[in-house]
Amino acid sequence: MAEPAPLSLTEAFAALGTARGRQDPYPLYEAIRAHGDLARRGPGRLVVTGYDECARALRDNSLHVQDRTAYDAAGPAWRAHSSLRAFTSSMLYSNGADHTRLRSLAAFAFTPPRVRELAPVVEDMADRLLDRMARLGAGGGPVDVIAEFASRLPIAVIGALLGFPEEDQVWFREMASTIAVSTDGLSDPTALNRADAAMDALAGYFGRLAGERRRKPADDLLTLLVATHDGEPERLSHEELMGNLMVLLTAGFETTSFLIGHGLMIALDHAPYAHRLRDDADFADAYVEEILRYEPPVHVTSRWATRDTELLGTAVPRGTRLTLILAAANRDPRRFTAPDRFDPARGGAPGPLSFGAGPHYCLGAPLARLEARIALPRLLRRFPRLTAAASPVYRDRWVVRGLDTYPLVLGA
Ligand code: HEM
Repeated sequence: MAEPAPLSLTEAFAALGTARGRQDPYPLYEAIRAHGDLARRGPGRLVVTGYDECARALRDNSLHVQDRTAYDAAGPAWRAHSSLRAFTSSMLYSNGADHTRLRSLAAFAFTPPRVRELAPVVEDMADRLLDRMARLGAGGGPVDVIAEFASRLPIAVIGALLGFPEEDQVWFREMASTIAVSTDGLSDPTALNRADAAMDALAGYFGRLAGERRRKPADDLLTLLVATHDGEPERLSHEELMGNLMVLLTAGFETTSFLIGHGLMIALDHAPYAHRLRDDADFADAYVEEILRYEPPVHVTSRWATRDTELLGTAVPRGTRLTLILAAANRDPRRFTAPDRFDPARGGAPGPLSFGAGPHYCLGAPLARLEARIALPRLLRRFPRLTAAASPVYRDRWVVRGLDTYPLVLGA
């Protein structure tokens, strides 16, 4: 039988826009890669699947994240959306000196030594959530590990760092996941309106909490950020304070939940991994790195060229928009042997691009790694007879991709 015709770039991207394509985007990434590691996708657009090309693009200072100037270039419609206004006031969506200033205000709290100090706190939170799971599953019924554990742990950890009351965490999760859709851009107006409503509710909440910290300072990041804003508003405006709080709350929540979810799914499908995760602390490190490469929670990011530049020999004229498919770069056959094989023992390979690279390299990477390295062994040790009660269900999203539900039976 004749081979099916290879997909054009337009067809591959159209397929990524469908629920079916998003269920398993990896074959579509290979269809895109077949057009080149750095392929032209219509006028002024490039799509990058190569590891070296993505790594270089993320580090190139003339390639910017989509900030307010870039949104404005497409018209003023985005300004009607409070969620987009908040995102574009944060470090994640700013460039150059603004970015350095905004990032430096929070960076001290996420350095590897500071994060290592948090290990006992994360262990304690994980154990308390596991106690809760044990109660929920005591009758033998299924427990959704995403809702009850994988998503609760990251929000509890970032909530404690920022200084948000524990009783509000379930509400945060709901708000944060509603807002997260605005990272998909202006594509879905209904979802964006919901994101705006969630952003407005969160902004009101942050405002009230900031007022409390002014009256009664505490040993948390919120107190420090509020004091910076009050003392030096030129270093942190009100909008930037809100934007950064929102990004700190949302950037690490679904992403880390998806990392834990994928780690668990693969361990339950491959008993030897589950076995080693229970017993061998060093293995957890290698395992989490390979999960990050193989199933990265953030599949794609973008940049636009603020001046003429070039990427490994390809001209990138000013104004070009680049779609960087990090999940495809992580499976670049030039850099990873048998890239579609999950292999925690792969040595000598470069680090995955799952946390990005360059100036916007994920601020929370040490924290996300710590959480996953603690959560997976603890969960598997606590419930050695854990089994899937039903197949895991993926959330129908492309940019931040992971499991929505994964019901498990805890076993006796
Ligand atoms: C597995 C979990 C995580 C993944 C896969 C992830 C991924 C990423 C990626 C790819 C970027 C760069 C985006 C770009 O360059 O366009 C980023 C940035 C960022 N992440 Fe994470 N992240 C995770 C967890 C966290 C956590 C726990 C936090 C903690 C608060 C966090 C906070 C941030 C912040 C603040 C930025 C913006 C940094 C900047 O613009 O300078 N992330 N993340």
